[in-house]
Amino acid sequence: MGSFQPHLEKLKNLMHINDVQLALISDRMLQDMSIGLQKSTKSSVRMEMLPSYVDCLPDGSERGAYIGLDLGGTNLRVLLLTLTDPIDGGAKFDATIKSESYKLPKEKMEGTSAELFDFIAANMGDFAIKNGLEGKMLPVGFTFSFPFDQDRIDHAILKQWTKAFNIKDGVGEDVVQMLRDAIARQGNLKCEVVAVCNDTVGTLVSGVAEDPNCQIGLIVGTGTNAAYLEKVSNIESVSGYKDDRFMCVDMEWEYFADTGALNNFVTEFDKQVDATSPMPGEFIFEKMISGMYMGEIVRLILCQLASVGNIFTEKCLGDLRTTGGFDSRYVSDITEEAIAGHGETDVVTSILASVGVKASHGDVHTVQLVCEFVSIRAAHLCAAGISAIARKIKANHPEQNDLVVTAGVDGSVYAGHPTFDTLLEDKTDELCRNHGVKVRFIRAKDGSGKGAALIAAGMYRNRK
Ligand code: GLC
Repeated sequence: MGSFQPHLEKLKNLMHINDVQLALISDRMLQDMSIGLQKSTKSSVRMEMLPSYVDCLPDGSERGAYIGLDLGGTNLRVLLLTLTDPIDGGAKFDATIKSESYKLPKEKMEGTSAELFDFIAANMGDFAIKNGLEGKMLPVGFTFSFPFDQDRIDHAILKQWTKAFNIKDGVGEDVVQMLRDAIARQGNLKCEVVAVCNDTVGTLVSGVAEDPNCQIGLIVGTGTNAAYLEKVSNIESVSGYKDDRFMCVDMEWEYFADTGALNNFVTEFDKQVDATSPMPGEFIFEKMISGMYMGEIVRLILCQLASVGNIFTEKCLGDLRTTGGFDSRYVSDITEEAIAGHGETDVVTSILASVGVKASHGDVHTVQLVCEFVSIRAAHLCAAGISAIARKIKANHPEQNDLVVTAGVDGSVYAGHPTFDTLLEDKTDELCRNHGVKVRFIRAKDGSGKGAALIAAGMYRNRK
């Protein structure tokens, strides 16, 4: 490695955000959260702080069968959640889930909204046939992983298509109506869409079913965002509720840094990622954290190291020359091998070979380190955000000393990256240490779809 060590040191420093800086980022997010909750000041921040109208969390008394739909970053998931009397005789339901995942074809992410919703309804039909649900009237909870405005739980006006969705219409329209229309066009499906939620809200609710202390929902997947339980009296746009009630707020934190909060930490690589992304200038926070961009940041760093002669001496860059040529999954796989600590390099070598790169032993080590720097920065930025939420929750419960709150987490990066969870947890601990609050993380597997079905179950419970 010898001669290029200084280069790596420089890169490490460039990607490093120290604890003092992370604490300042946390402060800024906390401040933006409060500003975003007020109608009069909201326009000066970019985080949306959207009320979800989910104010009734599962209490274990729900029973029955519900459909959860989860339109995420790259897949559609349809699930049947069945809540029955518990065999242990306790009060809380026993839950069983049957689910199917359907890969979203690229053309459905770039066509019209009607085509996308017809695809959803068609797969609901397929799911109904496979599970003998044809003709059954079931309540549906719909997780729609995009920003939308709500004034009630089954009404959602789309604000923007995000992630890799490049659909030309649908913004300003009600996605629940679009889904209902597609279900009607499908013909033989009988079901009632009773609730819609963002994936972070779904994850929070499904976290509550695991741990009643869950007050945060976090997604780190194709995109990243978080939701938390806020006092209704702090959400200016919501009225008609008793002040002591709590409601899930979808922060839409992917927009957090779009007012410049991270300008001191945005590197030349982040700028390049941004410039070639479908939405330049937006989602800066997400672009430094989530799975849609992690591989791309690594790719750009490797290209630069190669251009100055620090790696890949044969100048054979293969697919690394192309935007999107290095999948974020590789970052996880390479990290997995690196942390095993046996000095093995088979995985990284074969990944590099698969993208057409011939690497020396030294190159392989450099690639491992680059993946590490990028992963650490992503997890630490996420920790800055989570610590801000924990402090906000703590401020709502001043009477509780040493408050512990649970965060339910899902998403491909959180679930698939071998060190992300520990990096996030450890840094959140450090950032919360002097604030009288601690965050406990739980994996909310299939959280968002299950959460939507649980919200539907709650609606049904309330209607009875
Ligand atoms: C994107 C979406 C947001 C979603 C997140 C995680 O940032 O805009 O609504 O929650 O991805 O899927």
